[in-house]
Order: sequence, then structure tokens, then C-alpha cells
Amino acid sequence: MTTSANAGHLPSRRLVLSRLLSRDMVSRRKAARAFLLALAASMSAIGLAATSAWLLDRAAQHPAVLTLTAAIGAVQLFALGRAGAGYAQRLETHDLAFGVLGRLRVMCLSALAPLAPAALASHTSGDLLERATDDVDTLQNLYLRAIPPFVVAGGTSLLSVALAGFLVPQSGAVLAGGLLCAGVIIPLLAQRLGRDPGHAMVQGRASLQAATVESIQGAPELVAYGQADRAIERLVELHLALAGQARRAAHRRGLIEGLSSTIVGATALGMLAMAVPAVRAGLLPGVDLAVLPVLGLAAMDAVSGLPGAFSHLHEDIEAGARLLGLESIPPPVTDPEQPAPAPAGVPRLMAQGVTLRYAQDGPNAIENLDIDLLPGEILAIVGPSGSGKTTVANALLRFWPITSGSISLDGTDLESMTGDDARSIVGALDQRTHLFSTSIGDNLRIAKPDASEDEMWAALSLAHADKWVASLPDSLRTQVGEGGASVSGGERQRLALARLLLAGRTVVILDEPTAGLDPSEAMEMLRDVLEALSGRSVLLITHRREEAALADRVIGLSHGRLTAVQVQDTTSPSFPGVPTRAPAAFDQVEDDLECGSRTRQSST
Ligand SMILES: Nc1ncnc2c1ncn2[C@@H]1O[C@H](COP(=O)(O)OP(=O)(O)OP(=O)(O)O)[C@@H](O)[C@H]1O
Ligand SMILES: [Mg+2]
Repeated sequence: MTTSANAGHLPSRRLVLSRLLSRDMVSRRKAARAFLLALAASMSAIGLAATSAWLLDRAAQHPAVLTLTAAIGAVQLFALGRAGAGYAQRLETHDLAFGVLGRLRVMCLSALAPLAPAALASHTSGDLLERATDDVDTLQNLYLRAIPPFVVAGGTSLLSVALAGFLVPQSGAVLAGGLLCAGVIIPLLAQRLGRDPGHAMVQGRASLQAATVESIQGAPELVAYGQADRAIERLVELHLALAGQARRAAHRRGLIEGLSSTIVGATALGMLAMAVPAVRAGLLPGVDLAVLPVLGLAAMDAVSGLPGAFSHLHEDIEAGARLLGLESIPPPVTDPEQPAPAPAGVPRLMAQGVTLRYAQDGPNAIENLDIDLLPGEILAIVGPSGSGKTTVANALLRFWPITSGSISLDGTDLESMTGDDARSIVGALDQRTHLFSTSIGDNLRIAKPDASEDEMWAALSLAHADKWVASLPDSLRTQVGEGGASVSGGERQRLALARLLLAGRTVVILDEPTAGLDPSEAMEMLRDVLEALSGRSVLLITHRREEAALADRVIGLSHGRLTAVQVQDTTSPSFPGVPTRAPAAFDQVEDDLECGSRTRQSST
């Protein structure tokens, strides 16, 4: 079992391209339709230019109008064909590209889901945001601006060289040479010149995005400690670096475009030069002379997008590599191939000799821990900050793999069950509960999507939040702001408790559930919550002596090891099984708490 979070290595460029163009991503039928339409549009443009040139030449000779009818018809046909095929091709290519983007977004989120929360700890949220949004958006260029020009240029070049060669073979050869330069040599040069700026720009954008998100999230702290200006300076530095990279990329692009234009002009002139002797020798009617350079210009137009396509290709492959790299991050906890069924009812939870290390070469966060939580029992875990209490919760929720030992529910090993099954039994109220930027009702429905309003009010009432929610103008439809920014710490905790109660888990971990509440209110709420959870097993993680006194048993943790176990000796008069008097042996635990805080003080 490994516990290290891996940042994920980037796949090779070839692998990225073959994956992004695979059948799973791109519908072959749609791609073929888009290619044929693009070819029809491109050839119509060439046909239009060539027949128009011929028509103008011929018209200058004042022939009978009837002799021009076929050419006029061809011009009209090509003009309509170019517009119609161009329009249909854009529709088809965009449809194809947006279909792929949808699949990429699903792939990205599917890759992220099994990594939460353990393996995501090694990534900044800005980096993940960049991959899930900007990198996916960048990739639309692959399907709209990078691949189509190559395909169209190939087909158009073959057809136009054949046509020019049919009229004057030497002109066909010049066109083939021009196309080779503009379509192969220049793009290769562009690829060489564009690789570094493309790479640097994607990396630069990712750094800027990560720093921006971090600065926005940490804005209150930066302002409070007078570091806002430094943070802004850092953002400006990153922005300037990115602008410099963009400028370098633009210079190189400009150089390539200038070279391309020169080659286009030289090819048209060369074709004309080759055609003049053919006219003189009577091999080509004079009226056809203008057709050749015009045909050349139009054919070169089809390959003129290739250098730009190459520079897009670099950025796109880079973005694709970062996106596909998400799939190479090993999930910290994997589900077994043939999972054992989750036990029904309220199971007995047993942890034996459990050790958990967050980093492979780091210290044990919990070590050789034994916990036996009987069905319906309330077990308190107390211990100084950093002693491993939340780590116990992480292990029981299968968020992190344990390094050794075993955890079982009614004898079924937790590792033989899927993470989802384990978490359908074990639920937790986190110390840093996240509220989604939506309404109170929607935040509650995360625990139970089909919850009725009555159920939600019952849960809110148990969490002592019903009066507060009822007093809000929009009641359950009140928006809580981004990350719950518009509710207080205590209100957030009560909403989170209500959500947990609604989920109906049979083994419940309350990780400092009353943080943010004043002591008298905290006790009242905790009693109500424990009463509501009566019959289910509860692991109550707390710092407060009077809260631990509500448990049947108290265990103490210090430096990840068990230090004290105490069975309570009285039971609550208000509801069975829940004692009200603090146990004498809590003093032992308190000694540990004090010892822990002394150790921390002396170490700082
Ligand atoms: N994601 C993580 N990666 C690496 N180390 C971690 C991680 N989470 C916790 N730790 C370390 O593991 C140890 C136990 O942390 P834990 O969060 O379990 O303590 P705790 O008892 O819950 O503390 P508190 O009372 O402050 O919540 C600490 O030394 C902590 O720094
Ligand atoms: Mg904790």
C-alpha cells in the first residue's frame, strides 16, 4: 500500500495525439463528413478562381455570349458550392469539436473524482481549474484549427497539382514545389520555432491561474498581514512573463507568415513563367494563361493555414498532455475488482493495529491503533491538536489507505468493499465542511437528493438551525454564497450537521461538530444530535471535556498512539445510553492534552 500523492506524469506527445484522435473521442463518420465538406469548399474556391480568371480573359475577346454560358454557370455553381459547403463544414466541425470537448470534460471529472481528497492535496486548485477549464477549451482548436487544415491541404494539393499539370506539366511541377515548401517545409520550421513558446505559454498561463486563484482565496489574510501589494506584484510578474512569451510566439509566427506569403507569390509567378512558353508553342490557348497563376494562388491558400495549424498543434498537445496526465495519477485508494457486499444494519466497527502515514517517507500520523465501536455505542476520541484524530476519520472513510493493520465492519474488511459502499455506512461531519455556492435546500439535498421539505426541516430542527433558516427571507431557497461565505461559522456547522443527519449513515464520525458554537449552545445541540443518532454508532472527536462526557467510552490519542481508555460509569437520565457526568479518567486524557500542548509550546 502506498500513501504518497503523485502529481501524475505527462504522457508523450504521440500518445496524446493518438488518444485525442481515437475512435472513443472522435466519431469517424462525422470526421469523414467534415473532411469531404471541407474538401468540397476548398476545391470550389479553386474552381471559382480558375473559371473566373478564364471567363474574364475570354470575355475580353468579345465572343458571342452563348459561348460563355457554361463558364458563367460554372462560376455560379462554384460560388454557391463554396459558400454552402463552407457553411456545412463549419457546422459539422464545430459539432464534432463540441462533442469531443464534452467527452474530455467527463474524462477530466471522472479522473479527478477517485483522487479526492487524498491525491488532490498535492495540486493547487488553480492548477486543477486550469486543466478542467482552460486546457479543455484550448483543445477545441485541435479539432477546429489544427487538424482540418492538414487534411484539407493534402486533398486540395493533390487535385490542384493534377489540374495544373494537365494544363502545363511544368506549371504543375512548380505548384507541387511551392506546395511542398509552404505545406511541409514552412510548417516544420514553424513547429520547430513554435514548440518552446507553446510549451512556455501553457505553463505560464497555468502558473498565473494558480497564483490568481490562491491570491483571491487568501485575499483576507494577505490584506490583514499587509502582503496584498506583494501578491499583486507577483501576479504582475507572472503576467509580464506570460506577455513576453506571447510576444516571442507572435514574432516567430510573423516570421513564418512572411515567409509563407513570399513562397505563395513566387509560386504563382513561377507557374506563369512556365506557362508562357507553352502558349508561345501553341500548346496552351492564350485564354487559359491567367488560369494557372490564379489556380496556384488558390491552391496555396489551402496550405497557408498550416504554419498556424502547427503552432496550435503545440499548444493543443501540451494542454492535452496536462489533461490526460490526470489519468496517470494513481488513485490513493482503489476499489477491489469483486467487492464484498456492505453489511446491513448498524455494524460493529473494529480497527486493529491500524497505522497510517500520509507520505511514504513521512512519520506515522496514527500508529498501531485499536478501536472497537459497538453498534449503537458513542465513543469519544480526545487528544491534542495534531495527535491524529482526523486521521482516524480519514482511515475509516477510506479516504486514505492505511499502511498496515485492518478495519472491518461486522467482520467485512473495509478494503474488500468499494469506497462508496464504505461511505454509505460511515459518514462524517468534517472540521472544514464545504458548503456549495447554491441554496440551503440544495446543500442539504446533497446528502439525500430526494429529501422532502419536511425531512429537511426535521434535520434542521435537530441541528438547531430551523429557527435561523425560517427567519431568512428566502428560507430554504436562501443562497449561502461561494463556499458558504454568507453564513457564519456556527451556521455553517449546523447546516453541515443537518446534512449529515439527513444522509442517514449508521456509523457517524463527528469531527469537532460544535466548533464555532458557544459552549452552552454546543452542549444543547450535541445532546439533541446524539439523541437523534440514538441506535447508530458515533465516534465523537472533540477537545471539550464536557462533550466527551456524553460518550459511553473515551479514548485518548497522543502522537497517533492510544494513551487512555475510559468506560463511563453513569447514564443520562434524559435518554438511555448517553451519560452526562464527566468520567474520572478524563483527567488522564486531559493530562495528555496538557502534555501535548506543553510539548508543542516547548518545541516552538
Ligand atoms: N493531508 C495530510 N498530508 C500530510 N500530513 C498530514 C495530512 N493531514 C494531517 N497530516 C499530519 O498528520 C498528523 C495528524 O493530523 P490530524 O489532522 O489527524 O490531527 P488532529 O488530531 O485531527 O488535529 P486537530 O485537533 O488540530 O484537528 C499531523 O501531524 C498533521 O500534520
Ligand atoms: Mg482534526
